[in-house]
Amino acid sequence: MKSVPNTQLGTLVADWPIHMQRAIELSSSVWTATPNPRVGCVIAKHGAIIGEGWHAAPGQAHAEVVALDKAGESAKAATAFVSLEPCSHTGRTGPCCESLIASGIQQVVIAALDPNPAVAGSGVEQMERAGIEVYHMVDFEQKARSVNAGYFKRREEGLPFVRLKLAMSLDGRTALADGRSKWITGTAARGDVQRLRASASAVITGINTVLIDDPFLTVRSSDLSISDEERKLNATLIERQPLRVIIDSQLQTPGTARILNSGGLVKVYTLNEDFIGKALADNVEIIQTGSCNKRVNLQFVLESLASDFSCNEVLIEAGPSLSGAFIETGLVDELILYIAPKILGSDGKPLLAITGLQSLDECQGFSVQKLTKIGEDIKLTLRAGQ
Ligand SMILES: NC(=O)c1ccc[n+]([C@@H]2O[C@H](COP(=O)([O-])OP(=O)(O)OC[C@H]3O[C@@H](n4cnc5c(N)ncnc54)[C@H](OP(=O)(O)O)[C@@H]3O)[C@@H](O)[C@H]2O)c1
Repeated sequence: MKSVPNTQLGTLVADWPIHMQRAIELSSSVWTATPNPRVGCVIAKHGAIIGEGWHAAPGQAHAEVVALDKAGESAKAATAFVSLEPCSHTGRTGPCCESLIASGIQQVVIAALDPNPAVAGSGVEQMERAGIEVYHMVDFEQKARSVNAGYFKRREEGLPFVRLKLAMSLDGRTALADGRSKWITGTAARGDVQRLRASASAVITGINTVLIDDPFLTVRSSDLSISDEERKLNATLIERQPLRVIIDSQLQTPGTARILNSGGLVKVYTLNEDFIGKALADNVEIIQTGSCNKRVNLQFVLESLASDFSCNEVLIEAGPSLSGAFIETGLVDELILYIAPKILGSDGKPLLAITGLQSLDECQGFSVQKLTKIGEDIKLTLRAGQ
């Protein structure tokens, strides 16, 4: 495989960055591939796109196969741009390498190797053995990895990518003193949260939020802000609910909680050993964890979500206690704050329950990635670390 930085692309292949950009764009607009990676593919010949494809959901055709189908016979001697190395193994569908080889494609250009041990370079080898020229556009690698940040993290570190979402007032409060927090932000921000849920493998919440708010934490198609292009790419979106996860040391979740009774699978992580034989509902699994300061060990939860349930990305929607604990343990990769232009007052609940900091050196830092106005509110996206 030849690595090609953009600066080494000759005039004959000057359109390569445009095609790879399009393949990555297709992959990044797909929310429903989990636990598979998001993959986009463009097939081009003489500078023109003759086929495009994306992998919409597990069990459905892979991006390369969809694009090859569209290109038909014209795929012969064409170039395929794929955001991730084509697979070489048989899963729920056949290996994409074989389809590319059979199509008579001349060149395959990838943005990143697949970290899945069942692929990891063997896709490239198989295609090269069959005489296909394979190129790696190294300048696109970071973009391709960030589209699949969760998939790469699960494969490389055994942990999901962790996104923490919180809605707060201008004065940094997340609920009134009595715990009421519903509708701090407006409808546009809430529609955006629905998108976060739709793209998450799992949504995690704390027992107090379950007891106080009794949320569903489901994706509701009616509330989801989604463009026509996204609707086309995410064919199975509406039917797919993320796994819902409750962190509940003492197993206080009532069997009547709405989160248990709104369809879809629920996992409850607990320290309580007495749950054996206790059935909350058919769709609910209770999992015993190790303890950390007499509470559920959050590292264990994330490892279990990655290894037992193949979660690539998880979204935390909890109150200040659990959100603070995730931040304190350094397990959060991305923080998304919706800031409502309202004052809730100093009796209100804080953003995060973190205490005991003695000096500024102990403060955790974040870097600002994006700031946008969303309806009447502000959305601030931050990454852990400075
Ligand atoms: N503004 C927002 O974005 C937003 C979002 C969600 C909720 N809320 C509001 O937040 C309030 C509830 O917040 P909360 O902080 O009381 O509850 P929470 O964060 O939802 O849940 C906290 C509970 O999780 C359990 N837990 C288990 N393991 C833990 C660990 N390792 N670290 C920390 N907690 C662990 C603890 O109870 P056990 O020890 O019994 O397990 C703890 O009391 C509600 O008023 C709700 O409306 C606001």
